[in-house]
Amino acid sequence: MGAPVNRSPKTFRVKSFGCQMNVYDGERMAELLGAQGLSPAKGEDADLVVLNTCHIREKAAEKVYSDIGRLRREDGTRPLVAVAGCVAQAEGAEIHRRTKDVDIVVGPQAYHRLPELVAEAARGKRALDTDMPAASKFDVLPSRAKTVRPSAYLTVQEGCDKFCTYCVVPYTRGAEVSRPWSAIVDEAKALVDAGAREITLLGQNVNAWEHDGRYLHDLIEELAKLPRLARIRYTTSHPNDMRDGLIAAHRDIPKLMPFLHLPVQSGSDRILKAMNRSHSANSYLAILDRVREARPDIAISGDYIVGFPGETDQDFEATLQMVRRIGHSMAFSFKYSPRPGTPAASMPDQVAREVMDERLQRLQALIVEQQIAFNQRLVGRRTEVLLERPGKYPGQLIGKSPWLQSIVADGGAVGDLVEVDIVAAGPNSLTGVIPEILAA
Ligand code: 5AD
Ligand code: SF4
Repeated sequence: MGAPVNRSPKTFRVKSFGCQMNVYDGERMAELLGAQGLSPAKGEDADLVVLNTCHIREKAAEKVYSDIGRLRREDGTRPLVAVAGCVAQAEGAEIHRRTKDVDIVVGPQAYHRLPELVAEAARGKRALDTDMPAASKFDVLPSRAKTVRPSAYLTVQEGCDKFCTYCVVPYTRGAEVSRPWSAIVDEAKALVDAGAREITLLGQNVNAWEHDGRYLHDLIEELAKLPRLARIRYTTSHPNDMRDGLIAAHRDIPKLMPFLHLPVQSGSDRILKAMNRSHSANSYLAILDRVREARPDIAISGDYIVGFPGETDQDFEATLQMVRRIGHSMAFSFKYSPRPGTPAASMPDQVAREVMDERLQRLQALIVEQQIAFNQRLVGRRTEVLLERPGKYPGQLIGKSPWLQSIVADGGAVGDLVEVDIVAAGPNSLTGVIPEILAA
């Protein structure tokens, strides 16, 4: 028997894992539930808990089942539980078969139906929707919240047609779909009206965004006209969709921040081919040359996978060499994780765990070295920071530099764009002081 449940929820909590798009989806779900008259629960106790899950790596499903178990309260009851996101999409009805402690399973393209699914669950039904309908959830989601944080996300594109052989995203998020121009511009205006000073345009392949013959750089140019919007970013890009216009936008549009997250995954052409990346190490570097010509100070971030099936010591050395040639401001690196249903999962020559561990350590040490070097370059300089949230100590605020570095500042207010003198730098954050304004 499952634990007793209160089936008429008045409060809710959404917990998002994984990428920024999940954070965005989580906010939209919260707005949707809010529009239904539910209120967000402050503490741990909520009548309805939405676990907005990620399936990109490792034992994602196992982690979700243990999270579900932990929702049980001391008195033996539990909240109404919805599993959303990519694990919901990948596992579907299997979740209902495996546990009695979940009431709703809802995929990333169906969460606009959450209110109906909650109503079904309230009637004691085990609700499920993992459809990928042709009509978009965006057409029926309520308008954006009246107040938002200074830095807001806006999904413009979803899904992936690239089919890298290691990746689940084409299966969990579906085919590449671009939202229409006017829907995006309207949402951007609503976000700015609600207090956003920075917007990050999101997509699994954001630079593949296209609508009526217009491309991402056209959209960026349009959003840059919003007077209250100070900063524009976009993520995640694919090297093959790096159009000339987008590169030029980094030269021509001051509000477009000097930061590019452009995953390359490996420095070995043999491995890139096995990954079905359809670019080579050199063609990637050639793109960066053009980007840096357009915007010399641009910060380059990336993603790397170590231990892809068949990766030899020599292939891994090529990855290290690649990182040295790029010079990252930051980068993410992961051990290869076989994902059920992907081609790479059944490739021969899976790499031993110890080998992966050792490679990951060496790669991460190199990346940390580069992060420190990049951050050190800002020490002694004055830079503009968007203050995003309070820091650990009273009076402290945390914000971002144009190059997406985390800056701990000694004053100002959330939402302010301030000049900050950088006095110290570590691998993951920098310390700055707001200069005294001497002349009135
Ligand atoms: N194993 C390890 N890392 C992966 N990524 C995607 N799929 C896998 C996998 N199966 C990494 C890639 C991608 C980032 C979001 O996650 O580096 O760019
Ligand atoms: Fe994770 Fe990818 Fe889904 Fe984002 S899209 S939540 S990274 S599996």
